[in-house]
Amino acid sequence: MVTAGSAVEQSSVRRAPISLSAWRCLRYEVALNGLRILWETVNDFSLWRLIEYPWATRVLGVRRGDTVIDIGSGTSSFPHMLAKEGVNVVIVELEARRVRWQRDKRRATARPGDGDLLPVVADATRLPFRDGSAPFISAVSTLEHIPDDVAAGREIGRVLAPGGIVALTLPFTSCERRSFFAGIRPFRQVARNAFVQEGKPGSFFRFYTDDDIQRTYIEPAHADVVERRAFGRSILNGRYHETRLTRFWRRFVLKDLLLAWLVHPLEERFDRSDPLYVMLALRKRCDG
Ligand SMILES: C[S@@+](CC[C@H](N)C(=O)[O-])C[C@H]1O[C@@H](n2cnc3c(N)ncnc32)[C@H](O)[C@@H]1O
Repeated sequence: MVTAGSAVEQSSVRRAPISLSAWRCLRYEVALNGLRILWETVNDFSLWRLIEYPWATRVLGVRRGDTVIDIGSGTSSFPHMLAKEGVNVVIVELEARRVRWQRDKRRATARPGDGDLLPVVADATRLPFRDGSAPFISAVSTLEHIPDDVAAGREIGRVLAPGGIVALTLPFTSCERRSFFAGIRPFRQVARNAFVQEGKPGSFFRFYTDDDIQRTYIEPAHADVVERRAFGRSILNGRYHETRLTRFWRRFVLKDLLLAWLVHPLEERFDRSDPLYVMLALRKRCDG
């Protein structure tokens, strides 16, 4: 017999915020892409995502039935992970072939009880949503690839609902960077802290200072920073990301679980060097 108490318990269990651990993300990746994801990334799944997806999910505080707009999803599994937890997700992605990839992935893996997943071809600098209509927005390792990031920041601020949360992860620098992947890949500086890979026009990549973040994302959204975290310092940046070794071991995702569990928390506790990325949760003020 269902008592009033157990009904309340069930509804509070159903409405608890979704939590995605690194381990759960890895299991979802395997379920969505097969075991080969452990030794061959098919969608840029890596150490960073094992840190970013659990963090973004926690700060968004989404529950079953909520709707998230994920900007620049590429071929990421993150929208599918949220959908498998009962969250509805709108994928906003500029490249039509990546949106097709997402539709095919969804068709192949959808199960009863999943949230809705709607992949659309759209530009983050002209979001196809009404003002103040989005309570939850995520942009994981995406905004640094958009040359007109001022327009993207303005659009995020426009569509975010009052009291709404946006979870952003952004490459960080405290001083001017004059090189990126120096000696490993041929990146050319095209603006302050911005680079393009030679022969790859779509490969724009920008680092942000605190001032840039304030001007580009926080002020246009009339937002307060509710949480700021970081990742990738001496070991997981310098000795992991920007060395020749990266090419050989970056793809072996299983070891990333250990790095995310062990090295990342130790770095964040004891290492004061610049992080490679910052992770920011911004809440739009209700009078914003
Ligand atoms: C590094 S990838 C995706 C990372 C992904 N969010 C993840 O979790 O792995 C960046 C994506 O942003 C997309 N993108 C670039 N400019 C965009 C724009 N103006 N609007 C929407 N998406 C854009 C690119 O096509 C690419 O798929």
